[in-house]
Order: sequence, then C-alpha cells, then structure tokens
Amino acid sequence: MYQVKNYLLSMQSHWMINHTTYQAVQDSVPKIIKFKAGEGVEAMGKTPVHDVVKKIHPDIYKVPLFRRKFCSLLMKEIEHMKREIGFQPNEDEDELRQIPEIVLRDHAPELYRSMWFVVQTVLNPIFNAIWQRDCADPATIQIANYNLKDKKQGSWHHDESSDISVVVPLNTGKYVGGGTAFHNYGEVAPLPTGHALFFPSFTHLHKGLPVESGDRYLLVFWLNNAKRIVDLYEKII
Ligand SMILES: [Fe+2]
Repeated sequence: MYQVKNYLLSMQSHWMINHTTYQAVQDSVPKIIKFKAGEGVEAMGKTPVHDVVKKIHPDIYKVPLFRRKFCSLLMKEIEHMKREIGFQPNEDEDELRQIPEIVLRDHAPELYRSMWFVVQTVLNPIFNAIWQRDCADPATIQIANYNLKDKKQGSWHHDESSDISVVVPLNTGKYVGGGTAFHNYGEVAPLPTGHALFFPSFTHLHKGLPVESGDRYLLVFWLNNAKRIVDLYEKII
C-alpha cells in the first residue's frame, strides 16, 4: 500500500482549504442546522456560502476550494505515486470513459481519509447551502490524468454511481486544452488550480475536453448520499 510521503497531505485539518471559503462555510453552518431542525417547513434562504460560490450554468458551480500550496504539494506527491502505483484505467467503466487514474481508497488510504474529511466538513455544507441536500458519502475519490498519449478525450456520460461530482484542477497553465463540456449548456475552460467545479452528475450529461499537449491532473470526487440509496433499496425489496 502506498504511504504518503508528505504527512501534511494526510492531516485531517483545514489548513489546505481556501480561507475565505472555509470561513463562509463555518458562517453558514448555523443556518443549515436551523433549516434541518425546522424539517424543511421554512426556506433556507441566502447563506454566506452563496457569496463564495459562483453559478456558471444552471446547477453548475465553481468555488475556490484548495490553497495553491496544497495543490503544489499534491503534485509533488503525484510524482511519487506515479512511480510506486502508476495511473490505471478503471476497468469497471466502459472503454470510452476510461481515464488513467489513481483511486485513493484502494491505493492511498491516508490521502483518502483527509479528502473524506474535506467532503464531510467543507463540501457537504456547501451542497446543503446550495441544494439543501446531503452528499457526504464518497463513491470514489481519485486523481485523474488526461494526456494525449493515454486518453485524449472523455466522451459524453453521466457519472451513474454519483449524485454530485466535483472536479479540481491541480496544474492549470501547465497544459494546453482541457476543460469540461456540458450538454445543453456549453463548455467550461479549466478553472484555476485548486478551484472546484461541482454539478449534479447524475442529471447533467458531460465530458472532459481534449488536452492538446502536456498532462492535465485533476482531483475528482464522486459523491452520493449512501443513506438515501439504502432507504431506496429497502423500499424495493
Ligand atoms: Fe464524469
């Protein structure tokens, strides 16, 4: 099993989160709790999260998430990971959608735990503020690598195992091309390093755009609400 070389990456702490976004999340939590305690009788209204999150297209948002320092340390770690683990296509996906990736839960559990902490304490409150939905259960958290040699282009798809997908570029400016296309809405150019693009991936058909040169590295979160899925399953059987 891969052991993280830089222990800062595996610390369950908020040092790696953009300060303004972190503060907005903290300031929004009382309103989220009040909404949940009220059992949805009253609308949640605007929260401080709405000041840091920007809408790009309907239900497609961006937010500054990770500090640049975290992204540069993670890029250094990826060099070690490439040597020890290597990027592999996900055999569970059909061939057109396979992107070389490192699945953190399988290969780098320390990093998986620190990213899960970010999901629970930063991303999930953001989803609550924007959609009044919980989505705190990672289906997969992975590092994806788009490049010309291995996989030029994704193809149109829904991320069927996740309700919400979050894509964070780690090295914007170090490659040419890339970005995400959304059916019915248009294209989104690569966001600055550390900024998160998030959207309901079960409903929004999308694809990665071709990288023309260089390597594009992304941190990708596929998230869902496991309790909702268990509840649905129990109703069916
Ligand atoms: Fe996707």
